[in-house]
Amino acid sequence: MTTEGKYYHPILSAPFVTNIMNTTYDMWKMGWDELNGGNISCLLTEEEVNPYIDITNVLRTIELELPITELAGKYFLVTGSGKYFRKVIEKPEECLALLRLTEDGKSVELLWGLSDGGRPTSELASHFMSHTERLKQDPNHRVIMHTHATNLIAMTFTHDLDEVSFTRTLWQMCTECLVVFPEGVGILPWMVPGTFEIGQETARKMSEFRLVIWPHHGIFGAGKSIDEAFGLIETVEKAAKVYHLVNAHQGGAKQVITDQELLALAEAFNVEPSKRYFLN
Ligand code: 13P
Ligand code: ZN
Repeated sequence: MTTEGKYYHPILSAPFVTNIMNTTYDMWKMGWDELNGGNISCLLTEEEVNPYIDITNVLRTIELELPITELAGKYFLVTGSGKYFRKVIEKPEECLALLRLTEDGKSVELLWGLSDGGRPTSELASHFMSHTERLKQDPNHRVIMHTHATNLIAMTFTHDLDEVSFTRTLWQMCTECLVVFPEGVGILPWMVPGTFEIGQETARKMSEFRLVIWPHHGIFGAGKSIDEAFGLIETVEKAAKVYHLVNAHQGGAKQVITDQELLALAEAFNVEPSKRYFLN
């Protein structure tokens, strides 16, 4: 495809590509993804990919640190390592990668993108292991999103890092929070990013939660779509912002959403938060 002499790859009109281009820009505008902060991976089917790309044309093979056999043969659109979310919309073929895991799960094959010779996100282990875990929970799961949500990071300095109390505080900040993430949020201890170990721990939490907090770093969200993963993170980030506003107010909160009110909400919206969040 050409416009004024410039070549455009047909994949640039694929909805899965335009969605990730727009979302990375939105995330940067939210202030969450400074510099190269954040990464996204999106599970795709062969049927989705096939109309846009020659799936027999492997551009490069990139070895993984450890094999991911559960996802063998699957296709993913991922952000590249060191790429700026602000720039994905301008340079998608450089900032994104369409990958297929090999049949032995030991490598990924690059089918499109990373045109400057770059690599997929350094958090690929966390993404792949989280996908594996979420697919066990929900066959319609598709997206893992990592971002440096500002208010949420700040909250990990000022709030106890206990999953029950952190979740309860978030639920108490905005009425709809409990309805959006009734399972609560998982929290890891501080760990070195980009490692197999943090991937393993993130995935372990993903068996119970769609939101996993990396203290003083950011958050991982999972969803059936980019919009769902984004919306989950946006909701937590909003609650964290309200938390700071309330605490900045002299004397803190004058009233709160009570446990009875949270339980009434759960009943009205037909969600089942675990009993461990309710002290009495
Ligand atoms: P990448 O640029 O490798 O995706 O890393 C960004 C990041 O947020 C690491 O946690
Ligand atoms: Zn990060």
